[in-house]
Amino acid sequence: MAKKITVLPGDGIGPEVMDGAVKVLKAVFDHFGHQFEFVEALIGGIAIDLEGSPLPTATLQKCAESDAILLGAVGGPKWDHNKPELRPEKGLLGLRKEMGLFANLRPVKTYEPLISASPLKQEVIGNVDLLIVRELTGGLYFGRPSERRGQFNEEVVDTLQYSKAEIERIVEKAFQLARLRRKKLTSVDKANVLESSRMWREIVDQMASKYQDVDVQHMLVDSTAMQLITKPEQFDVIVTENLFGDILSDEASIITGSLGMLPSASLRADAFGMYEPVHGSAPDIAGQGKANPLGTILSAAMMLRYSFGLEIEAKLIETSVDDILKDGYCTGDLQIPNGNILSTSQMTEKVVEKIRENHAIN
Ligand code: NAD
Ligand code: IPM
Ligand code: MN
Repeated sequence: MAKKITVLPGDGIGPEVMDGAVKVLKAVFDHFGHQFEFVEALIGGIAIDLEGSPLPTATLQKCAESDAILLGAVGGPKWDHNKPELRPEKGLLGLRKEMGLFANLRPVKTYEPLISASPLKQEVIGNVDLLIVRELTGGLYFGRPSERRGQFNEEVVDTLQYSKAEIERIVEKAFQLARLRRKKLTSVDKANVLESSRMWREIVDQMASKYQDVDVQHMLVDSTAMQLITKPEQFDVIVTENLFGDILSDEASIITGSLGMLPSASLRADAFGMYEPVHGSAPDIAGQGKANPLGTILSAAMMLRYSFGLEIEAKLIETSVDDILKDGYCTGDLQIPNGNILSTSQMTEKVVEKIRENHAIN
């Protein structure tokens, strides 16, 4: 039976970048003769407008019946003043939680042709290749117990809670990933202040004895924020809790030149996964054909790798993206001198063409 991919375009530039990723996937599947089924569903603001919920039951059901999910982005000013349960973001958080997607992988690397597009100096970002492993279903985002969360008269409460098991599984995942890379793990916390970070640190130290081939260091999150843009080459795998990972990954995206370049994979213990760009719905450029689709296209490549074991196909997408950038093509978010600025759909078309070319060569 054909494998199923649930496609959740969402809001703002979500549908624009998703169109790019689906076209690229279809081109790859055509070249290799793979049978995949795409099933579209609603999430976020559009789901609130059409179904009265940011995560309709039908969407959750389609996701549960599929082998992987591809998501664009959710949110926008239209829904910013909704009550908490009726916010687009609640749909995304609910989906991550419901599907048990606790491990969010956010790779960040230098693209040679984009070095000048970054506000950071070439000597700082010349050779970066790091992976942020962000805990995705716990911490402040899911403050428990839920009845302690919210606004109470003159007080407001969010709680940062983790169980030992939740920390262990993400830390273990990061050790395993470090083993497959340069074997260096930086655990990022705020252990000088937070109890949760102190437990996090203990767990990392305990697990280190099982992974003696991995070099481990601890770093405080404030210092990490600074070192990410002063000495990013030192990092291989970074593991951290939910909110720290959210903030550090947007910061790190600037190493690539634009937030629009960053892909992500949200995984659990089996092959199922959700794949989405790191950026949001970018209301400031939505509907203008200006969005960079590469973060979503590269997320689709991660899907082929992690959920379907299609490494050659994933590499073909990644190499084709590299090649297009080398040819001098970019989108408006990437300020490259003499760069050839393309619209979202033109960039998508370029990737599809390059895939055809590269596939024919190999
Ligand atoms: P954002 O990531 O949407 O945009 C930040 C800036 O980056 C904007 O200037 C935007 O134009 C630019 N940008 C982002 N992606 C781009 C792309 N692909 N191509 C070119 N430029 C791009 O963050 P924001 O403006 O703070 O948030 C807007 C909305 O998106 C909010 O409602 C927020 O909750 C939501 N959001 C959703 C997700 C998600 O769905 N995963 C992630 C982050 C933010
Ligand atoms: C992200 C986003 C989400 C998050 C929001 C939209 C809930 O910023 O995927 O990085 O904070 O996780
Ligand atoms: Mn974010």
